[in-house]
Amino acid sequence: MTAFQYIQHPSPTSEDQIAQILKDPGFGTNFTDHTAVIDWTLDGGWANPRVEAYGPIPLDPAASVLHYGQEIFEGLKAYKHSDGGIYTFRPQANAARLNKSAHRMALPALDENLFLESLEQLVAVDKSWVPTGEGEALYLRPFMFATEAFLGVRPAQEVSYRVIASPAGNYFGGELKPVRIWVSRDYARAAPGGTGDAKTGGNYAASLLPQQQAAENGCQQVLFLDPLHDNAIEELGGMNVFLVTNDGRLLTPELTGTILEGVTRSSVIQLAKDRGLTVEERRITLDEWDAGVTEGTITEVFACGTAAVITPIGELVDGDKVIASTGTGEVTQAIREELLGIQTGTVEDRHNWLHRLA
Ligand code: COI
Repeated sequence: MTAFQYIQHPSPTSEDQIAQILKDPGFGTNFTDHTAVIDWTLDGGWANPRVEAYGPIPLDPAASVLHYGQEIFEGLKAYKHSDGGIYTFRPQANAARLNKSAHRMALPALDENLFLESLEQLVAVDKSWVPTGEGEALYLRPFMFATEAFLGVRPAQEVSYRVIASPAGNYFGGELKPVRIWVSRDYARAAPGGTGDAKTGGNYAASLLPQQQAAENGCQQVLFLDPLHDNAIEELGGMNVFLVTNDGRLLTPELTGTILEGVTRSSVIQLAKDRGLTVEERRITLDEWDAGVTEGTITEVFACGTAAVITPIGELVDGDKVIASTGTGEVTQAIREELLGIQTGTVEDRHNWLHRLA
């Protein structure tokens, strides 16, 4: 494959405008000037890697992504360090997960080096877009979708891979504070053999109605259960969940194929082990959560994900019943600070998780 071609934006955003946007980045509303693109065809494989101006994608109305949802995506963040470099966090894990999702959705695999290069090339041209406030970063969104114009149901023979970038602050908006979570009793997120452990748009589309119910009940996220197994907890609409006990344990649902293997999830598990906590990845029922909070054995609960970082869970709303927790507990706070410290270069990167992009 040839090297990435750089096609300059004809009228890039001025430094003043970028500075204005970075004052309050929000989440997912502003996009940098460029996008990285690689095309794929069954006959030719991956070709024509380029960085071009961010803008609308020309797409045939019969493109199979629009009809059958053959699509996958990733999320990772870029941080500016005091040495002037722009770093990202465990991108090899995202590359591996992208390929796992690609396999499940019958999309082509993308070589890890090409994935890393697409991030490096994009960040190199848009590096002035990285915000530096507490908990802020440049959110990178690689995605792959079926572009072939064909209405038969089979894997597409033409595919596009792209990366867009968006300056990001707190996913839930404003200052970090504990969130309220709605238990979805009407809808499940995934079932054995389904696509629950693939990062594909359909999983998120299916979470929107329950998420709407959550919002109508004053909650910011929805918690999905496994109705087949005693209402064991699974994951939130777009993040994994952890419970902290008063005897030094950290509990999280085990990976059974119905849960997304979060990069933040596995990093939290490692950091918790490093600080001497016992990590239990296993089935956790809603009854156990409820009883633990009532008896005081579960002292903290938090959500985690690339976008959410680590966000304390304040209340769990199950119909008329509210299971309260402690707000931002000590363990939640300590792991959040350590993780953000590693990501932003103020805490030693002892697991070699950082990768310099630019
Ligand atoms: C992420 O955390 O990066 C995700 O992809 C979740 C999404 C809900 C923003």
